[in-house]
Amino acid sequence: MIRPRKILLIGKPKGYSILAIAEELPDNGKIFACAEEPYLGVYSQEAFDHSSDGKKISLRVGPVADTLEALHAEDEHFDIVFIDADQRNAVQYYSFVMDNHLLSMDAVICVENTLMKGQVYLENVSDENVLAVRKLNAVINSDPRVEQLKIGVGEKLLWPEDYPSYQWYLGDRKPGTKQMRIVLYLQVILPVQSGLSLIRRSPVPPDAVIESKTQVVKDEVFWGCNQCRILERLRLDGRVAYVTGGGQGIGRAFAHALGEAGAKVAVVDLVLAKAEAVACELSLKGIKSLALAADVSKPEDVQRMVDAIVARWGTVHIACNNAGINLNSASEETSLEEWDKTFNVNLRGLFLCCQAAGRIMLNQGYGKIINTASMASLIVPHPQKQLAYNASKAGVVKLTQTLGTEWIDRGVKVNCISPGIVDTPLIRSQELRPLVRRWLADIPAGRLAQPTDLQAAVVYLASEASDYMTGHNLVIEGGQSLW
Ligand SMILES: NC(=O)c1ccc[n+]([C@@H]2O[C@H](COP(=O)([O-])OP(=O)(O)OC[C@H]3O[C@@H](n4cnc5c(N)ncnc54)[C@H](O)[C@@H]3O)[C@@H](O)[C@H]2O)c1
Repeated sequence: MIRPRKILLIGKPKGYSILAIAEELPDNGKIFACAEEPYLGVYSQEAFDHSSDGKKISLRVGPVADTLEALHAEDEHFDIVFIDADQRNAVQYYSFVMDNHLLSMDAVICVENTLMKGQVYLENVSDENVLAVRKLNAVINSDPRVEQLKIGVGEKLLWPEDYPSYQWYLGDRKPGTKQMRIVLYLQVILPVQSGLSLIRRSPVPPDAVIESKTQVVKDEVFWGCNQCRILERLRLDGRVAYVTGGGQGIGRAFAHALGEAGAKVAVVDLVLAKAEAVACELSLKGIKSLALAADVSKPEDVQRMVDAIVARWGTVHIACNNAGINLNSASEETSLEEWDKTFNVNLRGLFLCCQAAGRIMLNQGYGKIINTASMASLIVPHPQKQLAYNASKAGVVKLTQTLGTEWIDRGVKVNCISPGIVDTPLIRSQELRPLVRRWLADIPAGRLAQPTDLQAAVVYLASEASDYMTGHNLVIEGGQSLW
């Protein structure tokens, strides 16, 4: 659920369980399993190496306290820490992990055996193990740095009341089995025997935790702007976006990026089938999408596009005006027809989109417009000849600067992205393909851009994180415009 990369197991981990966890980790994931002595099942590096996932496992057999010290010295930190409560020194291990910052920011600690089949709630218990587990529970319960959820069959479930989005279903438990069904954001079935506590860092560090000697400045930088951390501020949940020219190339990458960040995305293209294919890709990833056909150079098409999005999702928050064409010819031979065609899509079409979406955004006092310009707005790419294209893209930058300053006081920010040479169908024509080698010599980065190189920029410009940015031309060209 939290897509961990690094896991620490403290206790008596069983070999097969370790392998099962390793299989679920990404290729760069790692499990550190520390135990006083080898335990059940497959439990040697040699045995793990029979599995292709064995390389993700690092066994540390020996005194656990020493292992923890060593991991701390190596500056390791973990996304999940499993601690078996039913072991000597569990309290020390828990405290070491907390005190020495072995947890990554959004980490979870899973403490197993915290209920000891309910025995921790019995009075007059003399069993040392039960008393030790009870002590560990008390330490965790009184630790202001964390909040926790306890799970145990037939046991009381504890979870802070301000987390209503977590639902619990106990009814599905089959009589006589020790399974219960838990619905969090996704459904998991935990075979819980002796209690499992899920613990995470409290979102608000209590004053007492902050070391008194250090002066802590508790401003927006510390808490996050509006209490949101930087990556949360890049999220686009609940926003409605469209991308023109979204059926392939850069527009397709923009549509995926905006959707992955949480927005609903209308994929707009001259060719409906292309828009539909990308919308289908988005749906497969759980992104709400809509496919629309429109020729951006036609005012009636643009209005129909915006109306369709508003009819479906109520408004437009993010307008990605990306459709563009590039025709090549020597300037003295450029026909008026070619000039008009280029300008009709690249500049007139982009203006029509800015205007139609802008009216809705100005009305609601909020909007993000991201236009696709080009490095050709800054330099004259060569040796290909593309006067109309270069001039149209320079026009996109000036249009962006003008709207960016005209509309910002009404909540609408307008920026543009200027990619260098991006490996898309646009540059795969017979005339342009042979030029790639020539271009590469002009690119400090030593390669063409991939559409994915531009994805973070569009999310940033669409998000609140860029609210102070307007009229900007964000150039992403591997340094080409500097040579
Ligand atoms: N590829 C590059 O090297 C590069 C570099 C800088 C800027 N750009 C700009 O990025 C944008 C996207 O380029 P790409 O490389 O993904 O191009 P592409 O040709 O691969 O894709 C463009 C998409 O826009 C659609 N389209 C064309 N005319 C349209 C119209 N009138 N109305 C609606 N949709 C239309 C096409 O059907 C196509 O799906 C363009 O504005 C382009 O000028 C591209």
